[in-house]
Amino acid sequence: MIEPTGPLGPVIRPRRMRRTPALRRLVAETTLEPRQLVLPVFVREGLSEPHPISSMPGVVQHTRASLRKAAAEAADLGLGGIMLFGIPSSKDADGSGAIDPDGILNVAIADVKAEVGDALPVMADLCLDEFTSHGHCGVLTDSGAVDNDATLAVYAEMARVQAAAGVDIVGPSGMMDGQVAVIRDALDASGADDVAILAYSAKYASAFFGPFREAVDSSLEGDRRSYQQDPANGLEGVREAMLDVEQGADMVMVKPALAYLDVVRAVREAVDVPVAAYNISGEYSMVEAAAANGWIDREAAILETLLSIRRAGADVVLTYWAAEAARLLRR
Ligand code: PBG
Repeated sequence: MIEPTGPLGPVIRPRRMRRTPALRRLVAETTLEPRQLVLPVFVREGLSEPHPISSMPGVVQHTRASLRKAAAEAADLGLGGIMLFGIPSSKDADGSGAIDPDGILNVAIADVKAEVGDALPVMADLCLDEFTSHGHCGVLTDSGAVDNDATLAVYAEMARVQAAAGVDIVGPSGMMDGQVAVIRDALDASGADDVAILAYSAKYASAFFGPFREAVDSSLEGDRRSYQQDPANGLEGVREAMLDVEQGADMVMVKPALAYLDVVRAVREAVDVPVAAYNISGEYSMVEAAAANGWIDREAAILETLLSIRRAGADVVLTYWAAEAARLLRR
């Protein structure tokens, strides 16, 4: 064994490999590339101009036309994919806009698919909260509880309709038990066995979703703690991910990312499918707000945030900075 310190000072000097940018590049353990980034986007029915989301500076609710442009740009930048969220102009208790082939999310899937073809994987949120008048991720029982199994039937139909619209990957995010199996069955039985499932497996009832609720004009009152996970539970997140893999998930996701990097790491070690992490709205807005105040270096904070999620073990990162980060990475 080498003595760590000799008469001439430290013998082992980790700083040697940090001296120049080229040396640092040589030994960098983690990569951050545009193909690893997925851009979540919002498209709102009946909009004539893109509409800024005040709690997420720089992010908009798209019109159908501006969404197509954003998708074309995402493809040109070599992003890993685009994840669509739809905001209907009217909502009802059953979230029926979600299963309407002419509903905003489904027409947007077809629009984007027509724009990018197979150059950019087209993903869609498969959940009812944007479509329900009460804002929950599922349909309710008479007493107002979220009805797991009745919701599964709606998710199955949603999967069929999204597949017919041309989606490449569906992203069930409602945290209903058994949702991946039911969606896999529905897709296979309708001849859509090539549509993949990115399961939001370990999704926590998080305060950091705040700005998203504005982004989708959410009508939620109360919280999602009866279906999203308790932030105290890491093992349970691993279990949820393993259950989803057993049910046929092609990829699993941990969400949010930053307060759950330990869960990202644990899930990465527990499953053998690609792992995604969602750098969510509140994580975005915190950096934007601090940067707007001149408190942090915005671009450096963005890249460090995304790198940290990759280092924790995420193969893929969903981030509202995807397009900008891709541009920064090319410089
Ligand atoms: C549910 C869904 C949510 C997000 C993505 N899918 C909201 C929620 O569960 O409350 C949040 C994304 C973000 O905060 O950036 N359809």
